[in-house]
Amino acid sequence: AAEKFGVPFTLSTMSICSIEDVASHTNAPFWFQVYTLKDDEFMKRLFARAKDAKCSALVITVDLQIMGQRHKDLKNGLSAPPKLTPASILNLATKVPWGLEMLQTKRRFFGNIVGHAKGVTDPTSLGSWTAEAFDPSLDWERIKQFRSWWDGPVILKGILDPEDAKKALAVGADAIVVSNHGGRQLDGALSSIRMLPQIMDAVGDKIEVHLDSGIRSGQDVLKALALGAKGTMIGRAFVYGLGAMGEAGVTKTLQVIHKELDTTMALCGERNVADLGRHNLLLPQDFATRWA
Ligand SMILES: Cc1cc2nc3c(=O)[nH]c(=O)nc-3n(C[C@H](O)[C@H](O)[C@H](O)COP(=O)(O)O)c2cc1C
Repeated sequence: AAEKFGVPFTLSTMSICSIEDVASHTNAPFWFQVYTLKDDEFMKRLFARAKDAKCSALVITVDLQIMGQRHKDLKNGLSAPPKLTPASILNLATKVPWGLEMLQTKRRFFGNIVGHAKGVTDPTSLGSWTAEAFDPSLDWERIKQFRSWWDGPVILKGILDPEDAKKALAVGADAIVVSNHGGRQLDGALSSIRMLPQIMDAVGDKIEVHLDSGIRSGQDVLKALALGAKGTMIGRAFVYGLGAMGEAGVTKTLQVIHKELDTTMALCGERNVADLGRHNLLLPQDFATRWA
């Protein structure tokens, strides 16, 4: 849907479809996102596979060296592979067409991991691999190392602080994504839009800045662009579309956001996204305040 709509998309290490599978179904260049894992050999192989698949940029997520506590996931018993419980079986029984489609799909497991990571030959070993694979000792030296293994553009995703933005620049990142991971990592972290002005002041003229977390509408996009972001990304918004209407729902999500951005621009008297700026917004005077 992203390709049809003409917007770039990012494929995750933890996607169901493998890099090769996605590359064989699209002509559009796409970005590849990696987590910061311990296993050098696996990481280098991922980079090589992404290069072979002509991924145009590498996105390194820097805010998930450990998993946050996701209270809804805990409450709902989310797991991979899913555990069948009386409640989940009852729930599945109300979604027969979806269940029948899922039974036919060839793609059920994490395609970049199963059969590729050491010791993960089947989905049952996935849980223990995930628990062990992430590197909680992540630091800037490690990011520098990843940078040296990829000879294309590197985007650091999960920056939420001007000092970290400066460090991202120092380790050779080409762009950053200001993000709090959709509020799913550190409960209580500030919103990405709130931190954007300070980050723009710190590095905005030296590095490309993008933003995600909480983008639900074209107005949200406009606000981020007006504060200086070069682009915005969505996580949940397209998943809501997918859940409601399948692939057509993802296209619809993009259309809704696009139309709303277009209308909002018109009502702000703007014809070109490049002309958006702080003049389009009324900000509280202390919006970009320094926090103690
Ligand atoms: C279903 C789902 C899967 C995600 N998987 C990843 C992932 O593999 N890597 C990553 O860096 N972020 C992942 N994210 C986080 C998004 O990239 C993004 O930072 C976040 O969802 C943005 O906030 P939003 O959901 O409010 O748009 C995921 C988000 C969702 C909803």
